[in-house]
Amino acid sequence: MKIAFIGGGNMARAIIGGLVASKTDAEIAVKDPNACKREALTRDFGASCHEEASDWISKADLVVLAVKPQVMQKCLQEVGPFIDDAATVLSIAAAVPVDSIVKWTGKTHVVRCLPNTPAMAGCGFSGLFAGPLADENDKARAQCVMQSVGRVLWVEDEDKLHVVTGGPGSGPAYVFLFMEALSAALEKSGMSKDQAHELALSTVQGAAALARQSGEDFAKLRENVTSKGGTTAKAIEAFEAGGLRDLVGKAVEACMARSREMSKLFG
Ligand SMILES: NC(=O)c1ccc[n+]([C@@H]2O[C@H](COP(=O)([O-])OP(=O)(O)OC[C@H]3O[C@@H](n4cnc5c(N)ncnc54)[C@H](OP(=O)(O)O)[C@@H]3O)[C@@H](O)[C@H]2O)c1
Repeated sequence: MKIAFIGGGNMARAIIGGLVASKTDAEIAVKDPNACKREALTRDFGASCHEEASDWISKADLVVLAVKPQVMQKCLQEVGPFIDDAATVLSIAAAVPVDSIVKWTGKTHVVRCLPNTPAMAGCGFSGLFAGPLADENDKARAQCVMQSVGRVLWVEDEDKLHVVTGGPGSGPAYVFLFMEALSAALEKSGMSKDQAHELALSTVQGAAALARQSGEDFAKLRENVTSKGGTTAKAIEAFEAGGLRDLVGKAVEACMARSREMSKLFG
């Protein structure tokens, strides 16, 4: 499959790295204004890189739109005319609705994707939404690309991408905040900064690995490590008394509300 990336920044680099590592038969070309990024993508992944849009884009079966939302419309004025009508257009831009991509490219085979930063470590999560005229071939191409950097979930309603934003989209930051707080508490109790960092990291990594391996629901896993009257029970009591569940609910609501507000800017 011939894939053209429009934008060769952090997220494009992560996806290209995933594609190369998963040994798909992808032939990768990239458009980016920055010479250093172009050189690095050629050196590290053998991508053919370009400063300008031209006929090379029209050869692509799949065009990945990986520029910031604010520059998307302007970028598509330049790039849109080169995209083949049969090509799949996969936009990874946050907050830009499918309808806007269809309008700005003049193309119909549009899929929208909401990836997250763990994609950069090969364990991302992407919400995918197929535009009204995207077909099974478009979906297969988009899924093949995003699966190279993690798990995928198709949503049947574009609004659900806001829910994905409230979960795995912004969620890594929630977990980092918890890790910061845990690490600070451990440091305060006598661990060095490095030790506290490692303990917090191992806690989250181990818990996630166990949850994945066991397939148990989270409440059961929590109960399994919480003996009545024991140490963990005391910590859980403190979290419950502080209203952790309610707080997480409010944080997710606030995130989704902001996501909906932002998408109106590009709708
Ligand atoms: N990073 C994330 O966590 C994340 C998560 C979900 C979704 N996304 C989405 O992924 C997209 C890319 O994000 P990113 O973090 O990879 O941003 P980024 O690192 O800034 O990459 C965007 C790249 O596009 C280049 N560019 C700007 N105008 C262009 C044009 N007309 N043609 C071609 N390339 C152009 C930029 O060059 P200059 O820097 O020189 O302008 C930059 O190298 C965004 O829409 C974002 O919403 C990102």
